[in-house]
Amino acid sequence: MDWGMRNRLSRIIRRDGRTVMLAVDHGYFLGPTTGLENLGKTIRPLLRYADALMLTRGMLRTQVDPGFDIPIVLRVSGGNSIVGKELSNEEITVSIRDAIRLNVAAVALSIYIGAEYEHQTIMALAELINQAEEFGIPVLAVTAVGREMERDAKYLSLCCRIAAETGAHFVKTYLCEGFERVVETCPIPIVVAGGKKIPEKEALALAYKAVSKGAAGVDMGRNIFQSENPKAMIQAVRAIVHKNFTVDEAYELYLKKSKK
Ligand code: 5RP
Repeated sequence: MDWGMRNRLSRIIRRDGRTVMLAVDHGYFLGPTTGLENLGKTIRPLLRYADALMLTRGMLRTQVDPGFDIPIVLRVSGGNSIVGKELSNEEITVSIRDAIRLNVAAVALSIYIGAEYEHQTIMALAELINQAEEFGIPVLAVTAVGREMERDAKYLSLCCRIAAETGAHFVKTYLCEGFERVVETCPIPIVVAGGKKIPEKEALALAYKAVSKGAAGVDMGRNIFQSENPKAMIQAVRAIVHKNFTVDEAYELYLKKSKK
């Protein structure tokens, strides 16, 4: 890996090998997701607690102060919608030149293993990596899961390993029973998505399990920005990821910060 690539990755995954990525890219196929109707306003108080921000080009340009120094993980895949026919029908949506112009730290693209457009999305990942390697930009492969897909260790190991074999530099997936197997068989760092909104303590337990079983951290969205208190929640998640807080300690911190 060249210096530029390592430098960009180290801005996202910090010296302790961990990261708290704030994911707010949901609108690329979900439209104005609950909590992100006014994306700029939602994320403003959270940015200082995030190691990286994952979002789309349009939201970056219009909602984020370019003077604020936060590594950007730019979603560069799309082409479907929640009301469309087939979620897996995605392609690359942003040129590498525009990603560089936006000064991103990494680019992200979804692969849909086992879905109708599996081949197209893996080839899009390969193409993106070919382009990004030229400029030292890391690629995050997002293991997208269709509605009917089983999120078990066998399936998620398959997804993560295919992402790594294709040349992705880090991968986002889900926590599952036997997550250790996913980690053991994947030679690149794994970040765990939060998934649908669940009670705060359960989401903190998810983050705790993820890092204690070998994930490099979380790429969490709804369980932060849809929380009763997003600012308290991201601080509690951060305490787990970077300070090895237990779930109880982090939940206590969440309650304390919520009072302020
Ligand atoms: C959408 C994504 C999201 O970034 C990802 O799902 C993380 O967000 P959440 O924690 O809300 O699941 O990739 O396709």
